[in-house]
Amino acid sequence: MDKNIEIIETINKISEEAKKSLDSAKESSELDGIFKAFMGKKGRLTEILHNIGSYSIEEKKIIGKKSNEVKNEIEAVYNAKKTELSAGENKKFSAEYKIDLTIPGKHIERFHKHPITAVLEEAADFFTSMGFTIVEGPEIETAYYNFDALNIPADHPARDVWDTFYLLNGLVPRTHTSSVQARILEKKELPLRIIAPGRCYRYEAVDATHLFMFNQMEGLFVDKNVKLSDLKGILEETVKHLLGARKTRFRPAFYPFVEPGLDLDIECVFCGGRGCGVCKNTGWIEVIPCGMVHPNVFKYAGIDTEEYKGFAFGMGFDRIVMLKYNINDLRLLYQGSLDILNQF
Ligand code: DAH
Repeated sequence: MDKNIEIIETINKISEEAKKSLDSAKESSELDGIFKAFMGKKGRLTEILHNIGSYSIEEKKIIGKKSNEVKNEIEAVYNAKKTELSAGENKKFSAEYKIDLTIPGKHIERFHKHPITAVLEEAADFFTSMGFTIVEGPEIETAYYNFDALNIPADHPARDVWDTFYLLNGLVPRTHTSSVQARILEKKELPLRIIAPGRCYRYEAVDATHLFMFNQMEGLFVDKNVKLSDLKGILEETVKHLLGARKTRFRPAFYPFVEPGLDLDIECVFCGGRGCGVCKNTGWIEVIPCGMVHPNVFKYAGIDTEEYKGFAFGMGFDRIVMLKYNINDLRLLYQGSLDILNQF
């Protein structure tokens, strides 16, 4: 018997053995183990075929053809047995765990982000594309960062505007995200461009446009040569990006931490500027209070006011969402009603 026939014999023998063992398997896991022992990377058949280097090309062709046939046969036995065993195993599993595998699965509804989160992320993406980084500050703040460091001293009437709840330990649920400005300036890592989104709390009677808890997004841009025109350009682009092209205007306003202070208004989305109940017949809605950082705020942080200038803004974020989606009652956003939230 020449070498050639010898190896074919061996392949045949292994094949018979493999098929017999596979057929006698009692469980899927055993079946898989047997299959691997013959056909795996280090399986018996695979090993044999690795050692055919000494045969001639003609002989290799014959061996190759034979081994393919055998592999197909073994696979067919494996597949048939697998189907048979799995069916039995599933039945046993269902009986044991009282599960009917034929019942269709539960339909799981696809959900989406809350409109406030979605718009916050959209705004954050927009600002990061302009080189801003996102920072966070604590929601429970010291009076120093919430007021004093923002040029709102304890005895100043401006403090009344943000009069609020205090905790027994003297800390305050922050009334605005402006406190993050004071914290970040203190680090003096200049120049800087940051936004600080987050929740704020106020002593407020709840109605369609006021809540005791709401979202703001603070912004701060400090560099050696920042001008009011930078503020105007960036905020006008922001409004355009978030709310679409709308008419805007800047109005003087007072905030202790900026000088000059401004309010950016947009044309009323509800009446198109003609005047209605929402815009109190002015045709305009205030969207972004802002201004040039007050020198005292820099002084509190120990920053040279000759060297650095900056602008700041603090948008009421819930308000932006209301305007974007024409929602006329802020409370709707916080009720957790899917009927409402699914509309966005
Ligand atoms: N912190 C102010 C508020 O909650 C809003 C504000 C006004 C923030 C002007 C600013 C700003 O950064 O420059 O009423």
